[in-house]
Amino acid sequence: MYSFPHKNILDADQFTKEDLDFFIEMTHRMKDIYQSGKAFGILRGKLLASLFFEASTRTRLSFESAMERLGGRLISTVGFQFSSISKGETLYDTMKMIEAYADIAVIRHPVEGSSRIAAGAVKMPVINAGDGAGQHPTQALLDLYTIKSEKNTLENITIGFIGDLKYGRTIHSLIKLLKFYKINAVLISPEELALPDSYKRDLKDYPMSIEETRDIKAIWDCDVIYVTRIQEERFADHKEYEKLKETYKINKELILASKKNTTVLHPLPRVSELSTDVDDLPNAAYFRQAEYGVVSRMALLCLCLGVPIREIQN
Ligand code: NCD
Repeated sequence: MYSFPHKNILDADQFTKEDLDFFIEMTHRMKDIYQSGKAFGILRGKLLASLFFEASTRTRLSFESAMERLGGRLISTVGFQFSSISKGETLYDTMKMIEAYADIAVIRHPVEGSSRIAAGAVKMPVINAGDGAGQHPTQALLDLYTIKSEKNTLENITIGFIGDLKYGRTIHSLIKLLKFYKINAVLISPEELALPDSYKRDLKDYPMSIEETRDIKAIWDCDVIYVTRIQEERFADHKEYEKLKETYKINKELILASKKNTTVLHPLPRVSELSTDVDDLPNAAYFRQAEYGVVSRMALLCLCLGVPIREIQN
């Protein structure tokens, strides 16, 4: 019988389609367990180290909420300023210490590849909660769960990705998961913020197809529109950001001109790329998407810690 083979979650590349289908099934199951009031206590006695060296609201708080809702507990550090990393301690040494204090760690760090260094230092499970412009695999997993829940399928749908495809790590990870499904991905961005070639090369032998355009009207034919923020903090030249920051703005008028049942997603936070007048439309699913983050992360904490979700009675 299949069992989830991953202790660490570091890169969306690590998953097979079987892993993803299992994750969706387990998250669904976790939702039922949680709704029936039986989740508390599943991780009693376990400690999560919540290590956020870069800004976060949803990812940190949903992981912390997930741990608490499972009856586990937390220790945390936020920002370099209050960590000994600011005194010159290496991430490797920091992790070595934390391993003595916790059973599992979630880390967000501005440097690409840092979660792999963190995982290499310890035996406990390590989860990458975003490493610079690299990967954000747990956001991609919750996005996958969201699309499956909202559309009831992951096959034969068109998904438009719009905004900063160059630096947006949520898209980098999500594309790696969606490649297993028969999806038509439409990449909508200015040329300067196109999806890096390394991500496109990866896709050749998979059922997902991609097309690229600069034209915002491409969203009209999409079943899902995944909007992203231009990642101001990743630009080497701020003038370049100023030039590109207002390229696209998704508003009510554009959504009303789109397919009637199109679903609008955004990993959030939003700045000016997604107007608040979309919030009242039935198409807006981004706050539900953030909500799915909690059950997804409840499932992931259990899977990484080897807790058999299937055997939990609800
Ligand atoms: C994203 C991130 O941090 O990469 N947010 C999130 O985790 N929900 C997206 C972003 O910052 O634009």
